Amino acid sequence: MTFQDQEFIDRDPRIERVLIGSTDLQRRVTELGREISSEYTSEDRPILVSILKGGVIFLSDLVRSITIPHEFDFMAVSSYTGQNTTGVVKINMDLQASITDRHVLIVEDIVDTGLTLDHLLELLSSRKPTSLRTCTLLNKVDARRKEVRIDHKGFDIPDEFVIGYGLDYNEQYRNLPFVGVLRG
Ligand code: IMP
Repeated sequence: MTFQDQEFIDRDPRIERVLIGSTDLQRRVTELGREISSEYTSEDRPILVSILKGGVIFLSDLVRSITIPHEFDFMAVSSYTGQNTTGVVKINMDLQASITDRHVLIVEDIVDTGLTLDHLLELLSSRKPTSLRTCTLLNKVDARRKEVRIDHKGFDIPDEFVIGYGLDYNEQYRNLPFVGVLRG
């Protein structure tokens, strides 16, 4: 944990604790970037598909550690109100790029029940990409309702509601440089 992490905590008593400090986050994100770079050739030019809004902070740090040529694009989906999943996944914004005959890597902030990623995998594979892989920063192993394939994973975390580094509670806390837990 850094002094800056501590400043955020001191300013907001609703943050109970830090789960993954910013130093550990940055280190792991850099490793993931290297991992991904070694999986593709320069000719592959994969399209990284980031899921708005939560995935945007992770993506922007991740791509700065990816050394092979690539593109990125965005999708917006919703499945959540407050802290509980509705189980319904709705596409609010689709990709701009065609992914047919392209290498695609879905970049998620968190896989919780797995319903969102399962739905995205089904949708994107129907567009006939050359390859379709997945990367998530956080993985709530014990919350899974649908088994999904995760090719690159940052951290396994317990089944707790987390905030920060892109993840929100009612649109707040996305800006925290660490992943934390709110007071219950
Ligand atoms: P899943 O469909 O249950 O796997 O959830 C996927 C989406 O739910 C993520 O992309 C997040 O937007 C949201 N989500 C799941 N768990 C959390 C959490 O602990 N904090 C904030 N958002 C979460």
